[in-house]
Amino acid sequence: MTKITIAIDGFSSTGKSTVAKRLAAELGYVYVDSGAMYRAVTLYAMQHGFIETDCFDKEGLISNLDHIKISFKFNPEKGFAEVYLNDENVEKNIRTLEVSKFVSQVATVSEVREQLVLQQQNFGKDKGVVMDGRDIGTVVFPDAELKIFMTASAEKRAKRRYDELRERGDEVCYEDVLHNVQTRDHIDSTREDSPLVMADDAIKVDNSNMSLEEQFEVVLELSEEKIKLQHKKKRH
Ligand code: CDP
Repeated sequence: MTKITIAIDGFSSTGKSTVAKRLAAELGYVYVDSGAMYRAVTLYAMQHGFIETDCFDKEGLISNLDHIKISFKFNPEKGFAEVYLNDENVEKNIRTLEVSKFVSQVATVSEVREQLVLQQQNFGKDKGVVMDGRDIGTVVFPDAELKIFMTASAEKRAKRRYDELRERGDEVCYEDVLHNVQTRDHIDSTREDSPLVMADDAIKVDNSNMSLEEQFEVVLELSEEKIKLQHKKKRH
């Protein structure tokens, strides 16, 4: 069957990753969590003193970008590829609220974006990829056959992220999570380089009142339609 490129963009904590992971497994596609890559760069910056409480040494990070190697390795037990920073599995460490507090600032740096976008384009060069993020349909794969833009109310998203963090044992309070979600929405949507905007040809899915299952069904149906369409096009 013809393989397509599926770009899923949207605001933070809209369930993009969960749906994208499942979709990739269902279709036999590769899943790439582009946000995990920005998070891994942020973790590196925190570990190497380029980020401290209220100070971000942007130039220091830029001059060390060559020392950052990000890769993904499929974990058969979990059923998806986990992210590695310089060969260390950082899948859990990049999901803390601490990393979330700085990641959007790091993601405004053009030098960081340039490097990660090239890597993301390379991951998708053979199609058959589901990638989620903020600029996948607009910058990384502007020619993606299917573009989905996910959204939901900030309160619903914060509640989902709060539950997720508590479940893994992180001591966080709901107000901090909500504040982080809103701050990141603002930085991501207003930055100069590759802001979060809906691509003209994207399909909007507001999942405020959808379960993950319903959300998945919607996205799967859209994907199957596009795959069939692309298959027909190729045969003619
Ligand atoms: O999972 P969550 O929705 O919280 O965010 P994420 O996908 O892990 O992305 C974390 C942050 O990385 C976002 O808030 C953006 O600042 C940045 N990001 C980006 O700028 N471009 C992307 N393609 C993906 C993420």
